[in-house]
Amino acid sequence: MTGFSSQWLSLRESADHRARNVALRQEVVQHFEDKQAELGKSEHAPLKITDLGCGTGSNLRALAEFLPAYQHWTLIDYDPALLSAARMALIKWADHVTAPKVDTETNAELRCLKNGKQITVNFTQVDLAKNIESVLDNSVDLLTAAAFFDLVSPEWITRFCQSLKAPLFTVLTYDGVEKWTPAHFADQSVLNAFHAHQATDKGFGLSAGPGAIDMIKTQLSTRNFNVRLAQSHWLLHAPEDQALMQALATGSAEAVAQTHRIATADLTAWLSARMLAQSCEIGHWDLFAIPR
Ligand SMILES: C[S@@+](CC[C@H](N)C(=O)[O-])C[C@H]1O[C@@H](n2cnc3c(N)ncnc32)[C@H](O)[C@@H]1O
Repeated sequence: MTGFSSQWLSLRESADHRARNVALRQEVVQHFEDKQAELGKSEHAPLKITDLGCGTGSNLRALAEFLPAYQHWTLIDYDPALLSAARMALIKWADHVTAPKVDTETNAELRCLKNGKQITVNFTQVDLAKNIESVLDNSVDLLTAAAFFDLVSPEWITRFCQSLKAPLFTVLTYDGVEKWTPAHFADQSVLNAFHAHQATDKGFGLSAGPGAIDMIKTQLSTRNFNVRLAQSHWLLHAPEDQALMQALATGSAEAVAQTHRIATADLTAWLSARMLAQSCEIGHWDLFAIPR
């Protein structure tokens, strides 16, 4: 496992929610409003959404308020501790939990109300490196993911695109751009080493890393999907984002140290400077793809 901690996911959640591209999200909302009008679907038929690599459920918390009144989410992750943390976080986030009446800390279906939306959530432990085809076989209205696709390999992206039938809305895929202020002499060499670490195997074969979003766009476009891309960069500033910037710099330095590409003294100097950084921009993209 790549081991994402619920503390790290919780630290980045508000920056992730701020960074999401509002115009592209509106296209997703419009798509489902049009679809509902077109099909004359009963108001009560829930929109079925599957979220890949759900972590603690941040993507649901970001999106649910913009989707129709009745929603059925399947949250998928291979880490049981994160699925359990997702359950607890959603219970805390909801205005009211209608089922189960007594929380058992199991993966039982959760039914809740939030801002007038009726949301049913299933928690499913699946290793997506092995079982993506079976997940994509289930009929859903929308497949989502957040901060997930830069972990996977080009070969896995091909498997995924070959099997995808539903609309895909994936947000916050890292594109390799990092700009720290003030600049430091080791910025570029640290970034190059970080990218080398990113390209290692994160459980799916050698990672596509910053190349992932273009690969998905190209493959889905040739498979008859309409694909739309929009930027969702993190724009972080001290002091309000300092804890996130420091955790980010510490995590990057740990990854870079594993590559042995940077002299320890240079990496230590870089990390000390970054603990006091004024701002940083991290490049991400959101993508919405609809089968034609
Ligand atoms: C960067 S985190 C993003 C989590 C969440 N989507 C968010 O936005 O907070 C990547 C997630 O992918 C999950 N993941 C990584 N490899 C996986 C695999 N092979 N199968 C299922 N989930 C996986 C991790 O456990 C983690 O929750």
